[in-house]
Amino acid sequence: MHFTTTLFVAYGLLEAAAAFSLPFRLPWAHALASGEQAPLGLPLDEAAPPRIAIVGAGAAGSSAAFWISKAKERYGLDVEVDLFDSNEYIGGRSTTVHPYDDPELYPIELGASIFVEVNKNMWRATEEFGLNRSDWDEGEDTMGLWDGSKFVITTDGKLGGWWNTIKVIWRYGYQAPMKTKKLVSSMVADFVKLYTPEAGSEPFTNLTALATELNWTDAIGQSTMEYFDAQGIYPPWTAEMIEAATRVNYGQNVDAIHALEGMCSLAATGASQVFGGNWQIFEQFVKRSKAHLFLKTTVKSIAKDGDKYFLRAHTHGAAEMMERSYRAVIIAAPFHSSSIDLSLTSSAPEIPPQPYVHLHVTLLSTPSPRPRTRFFKVKDSDTVPTTVLTTWEAVRADPDAPAPDFNSLSYHGKILTRDGVPANSSDDGGEEWSVKIFSTQRLEDSWLRRAFGKIGWVYRKEWDAYPVLPPTTSFPPIKLEKGLYYVNAFEPFISTMETETIAARNVVELLMREEFDASICKSDGATPRADNDTFVYGWDC
Ligand SMILES: Cc1cc2nc3c(=O)[nH]c(=O)nc-3n(C[C@H](O)[C@H](O)[C@H](O)COP(=O)(O)OP(=O)(O)OC[C@H]3O[C@@H](n4cnc5c(N)ncnc54)[C@H](O)[C@@H]3O)c2cc1C
Ligand SMILES: *[C@@H]1O[C@H](CO)[C@@H](O)[C@H](O)[C@H]1NC(C)=O
Ligand SMILES: *[C@@H]1O[C@H](CO)[C@@H](O)[C@H](O)[C@H]1NC(C)=O
Ligand SMILES: *[C@@H]1O[C@H](CO)[C@@H](O)[C@H](O)[C@H]1NC(C)=O
Ligand SMILES: *[C@@H]1O[C@H](CO)[C@@H](O)[C@H](O)[C@H]1NC(C)=O
Ligand SMILES: *[C@@H]1O[C@H](CO)[C@@H](O)[C@H](O)[C@H]1NC(C)=O
Repeated sequence: MHFTTTLFVAYGLLEAAAAFSLPFRLPWAHALASGEQAPLGLPLDEAAPPRIAIVGAGAAGSSAAFWISKAKERYGLDVEVDLFDSNEYIGGRSTTVHPYDDPELYPIELGASIFVEVNKNMWRATEEFGLNRSDWDEGEDTMGLWDGSKFVITTDGKLGGWWNTIKVIWRYGYQAPMKTKKLVSSMVADFVKLYTPEAGSEPFTNLTALATELNWTDAIGQSTMEYFDAQGIYPPWTAEMIEAATRVNYGQNVDAIHALEGMCSLAATGASQVFGGNWQIFEQFVKRSKAHLFLKTTVKSIAKDGDKYFLRAHTHGAAEMMERSYRAVIIAAPFHSSSIDLSLTSSAPEIPPQPYVHLHVTLLSTPSPRPRTRFFKVKDSDTVPTTVLTTWEAVRADPDAPAPDFNSLSYHGKILTRDGVPANSSDDGGEEWSVKIFSTQRLEDSWLRRAFGKIGWVYRKEWDAYPVLPPTTSFPPIKLEKGLYYVNAFEPFISTMETETIAARNVVELLMREEFDASICKSDGATPRADNDTFVYGWDC
């Protein structure tokens, strides 16, 4: 797919071959059933440096490897890290595709696309790794809010740019956007506390308690609708504009999604992405961590024997299962879709079932600069916005009303060449626009033709995109048992690339303290810790 990734895959496979040809083929079932302490080959194993396994090489797993490498560097630890992913690429839900599968064309984000400056790990990573950011908000755009049969409002600017346009104030008044802005700023002010030395060096194991500490209990315990109502915010604003944001970002309506995630949906001002793909951040995390990478390798089970974890994994196409022992294991994937068998760990608590939003992403190219007027039932002389967000309000008011067929539909500029100039990509050699649609159902080509007229390239992907996020006060466990940690416990709290890097940092901090008497940061007392806005725990220490 990407040139660098391809190289990396090859490297990973070589690594895999080398690492797993060690002479300690463990008689798996036997070792556990017999209760023997030292299965064949373990003495040799003992001499090797301790190892940590990470399952998943998305934002969470790649950053976990990176944070461990920081601790190794600062404490001079001799620890090896194995990083496993079923996919043939690094990045998980953050990945790009090339239009027409042509590597000469500029890639498009298929999963997670944006982050903001207050996402300090992502931001810092782009700077430290020399990755260029593009401003996602830039360019002229119009936004329309579609309720299934009509546009309830159309305005200038993408999501985040519409706070105080005349039309918005006309429809919703001045108070609602201003109060919302204040609430979001206050949430962001609490959020940045997660980067302080205090938060970094005092890892959390209980998200309910963390919510209390950050004053988020109210927000996370109520739906976005309830919370905004309680704050005295004009309800139609919440039901229409806020819902546009929760639907495009999390595929959920304001009466369903908790208000903390609701507010995160709104903190999109100054949204950016990495030129060429956000996955490059995660690739750099892995490269710089020097972890052994095993792509196309699925972890099947994690078992415990004595004080060691035994991991079974299968590399796609290989005849045999791999087996290897670890001092500690980090699960950095949504547990229930990972299909990892934990039944042979001694006391791991149940991880409560966590449904995910099953999202259809449709990418396409079209010579039409805008969606068709007829499709959106507007006059031929009108122009249809190039960003169409949606509200469920019409359906809430009348269950028989037509529901929007999609969550969001957005033009993302022209199809470009790798050098960033418009490509002549259509079959008649003309330029085309790229469009991204999120929906809960598959959108057939016939639907796409009705919406855009002529279409060119079409690419469909179904994701289990983010957790279903109802109001709650209880969360999955972060520490499953001694030496076994679960990063994605954080996702029902907030699900973003950035928060996965924070959750990974927290887990690595716990692991380093509990297993190695170390930390991501060394506090020798000699170097005073900075205490300003630019400080980021883990990077600056
Ligand atoms: C369409 C879409 C749009 C989004 N938009 C944004 C956005 O704009 N901004 C934002 O910040 N976030 C966004 N998100 C959410 C964001 O993608 C996630 O919160 C984040 O990427 C999760 O990272 P992760 O590492 O925890 O999980 P993942 O990225 O899912 O990584 C888990 C990895 O584990 C691997 N794995 C699973 N089981 C096993 C196993 N048994 N053995 C080996 N490997 C295994 C998987 O292959 C996967 O690569 C979006 C998500 C989607 C789908
Ligand atoms: C970032 O942009 C600069 C200036 O355009 C360019 O020289 C550099 O190669 C780019 N870096 C990456 C990683 O794309
Ligand atoms: C987590 O914290 C909450 C509130 O602070 C407490 O009620 C709960 O028992 C804690 N859970 C665990 C598993 O310790
Ligand atoms: C905590 O949050 C509530 C709203 O959820 C707000 O009214 C209150 O002022 C906040 N308290 C502090 C100390 O920030
Ligand atoms: C696209 O076609 C036009 C007209 O033929 C040409 O001038 C232009 O250079 C082409 N663009 C690319 C990127 O090949
Ligand atoms: C913040 O602290 C860092 C690290 O000590 C320092 O380099 C930087 O200049 C400080 N920035 C400001 C704005 O004070």
